[in-house]
Amino acid sequence: MARSALFPPGFVWGTATSSYQIEGGHDAGGKGPSIWDAFCTIPGKVNEHADGTIACDHFHRWREDVDLMKKMGLTAYRFSLSWPRILPTGYGKINRSGIQFYSDLIDALLEAEIDPWITLYHWDLPLALQLEKDGWLNPDMASIFADYAEICFEEFGNRVKNWITINEPWVVAMLGYGQGIFAPGRISNAEPYLAGHQLIRAHAFAVERYRKKFQYVQKGRIGITNNCDWREPLNDTAADRAAAQRALEFFLGWFADPVYKGAYPDSMRSRVGERLPYFSDHEIDIIKGSSDFFGLNHYTTMYAAEAGNKLQDSSVYGNGGLSEDQEVNLSLDKEWKLTEMKWAIVPCGCKKLLEWIDARYDHPEIFITENGAAFDDKVLDGHCHDDDRVDFYEKYLQAINAAMENRVKVKGYFAWSFMDNFEWASGYSKRFGMHYVDFNTLKRIPKSSAKWYADVIAHNGLK
Ligand code: GAL
Repeated sequence: MARSALFPPGFVWGTATSSYQIEGGHDAGGKGPSIWDAFCTIPGKVNEHADGTIACDHFHRWREDVDLMKKMGLTAYRFSLSWPRILPTGYGKINRSGIQFYSDLIDALLEAEIDPWITLYHWDLPLALQLEKDGWLNPDMASIFADYAEICFEEFGNRVKNWITINEPWVVAMLGYGQGIFAPGRISNAEPYLAGHQLIRAHAFAVERYRKKFQYVQKGRIGITNNCDWREPLNDTAADRAAAQRALEFFLGWFADPVYKGAYPDSMRSRVGERLPYFSDHEIDIIKGSSDFFGLNHYTTMYAAEAGNKLQDSSVYGNGGLSEDQEVNLSLDKEWKLTEMKWAIVPCGCKKLLEWIDARYDHPEIFITENGAAFDDKVLDGHCHDDDRVDFYEKYLQAINAAMENRVKVKGYFAWSFMDNFEWASGYSKRFGMHYVDFNTLKRIPKSSAKWYADVIAHNGLK
């Protein structure tokens, strides 16, 4: 029997998705191609050569999806805008039918009393910006992004009060420009730091635009969402404690320190040296303090140990920053249960990470903008009993609640995901949804977790 865990009044309960993962309609209504449309055509990059051409066909089925959200009693829904649906080449002429699509979706959500939380960039960069400008390596991207953001504030800001500039810059930098397993598929030990730098500038430029021209009238809030796993020292030694700390600084500190402290972590500066760019004084002024809340995506935990001269395979998935730069070895505990992603289920890691953020960044208001798990879901007699997922959510919500009892200011929670979708390089082989999607018929079936979550929302917590 689960421990009860109630949340404060006004706690935000949501689910999250992203445009490329659910929309489909890849060339509908004048949409331009994104780097993910292109990346998916490269043989061997995506499991079973899948792509987001149709995905969940949310582009055509969004009314049905909003109805399902309403049935869950969600108070918020986090989704992203497809930049090339709004600006087919990333800048220039606006595609009005793209604006209309999001405008209608926003109206339907508000009608259903669901607060829209919009992410401006969840990885589907207009392909033209990659080809013409080298994507996130180009310093001009910050103002190009801010121009796009401005269109969104202008068109939707009268109704949308919660903005997230960029989703998980760490993933874009490391998996897109370091390991090459996500679009645009670059492999380098220097480019991640360059791309990361431009992503931070882009975030800050967009926030500056919002604050100067819109925030005082529209009265919304704006921030960035970073992802981080917890790093637990493998042994209780000074060396492993330092390794775990360093691993967190290379993962989350890389992006959160500039925003909260105005500089990259010292551990990164001393180890990465000149490959890590510098911000100008003016940039520091606009970057520092550029988030109204702390957006956190959290999925798992690993042990961290000082590598010394025994650095393991540098391609270990999940290592924040380049392994050779941080010299940390990661490992799992044999006792930990794994999800289908092979990510360990360690709720106490979530509590420790929240406490680490609270202490390091001076008690920010935190929104968990993603948390969830993939399991091998099956439909039997029209039902999908995803008990493992319910158990996962229960334990993570308890851990979050326990951090809140220690005064960590968590203000909301978004389950990833509202429905099964295109899981990037894993294609459709990994299911994270609270709704099962049959990718042949595109039928949605609420899983047990959707009903369970509706109950959590109705009671504002776990009974
Ligand atoms: C996050 C990402 C989501 C989703 C999730 C599960 O990193 O923002 O798009 O794919 O992971 O892997």
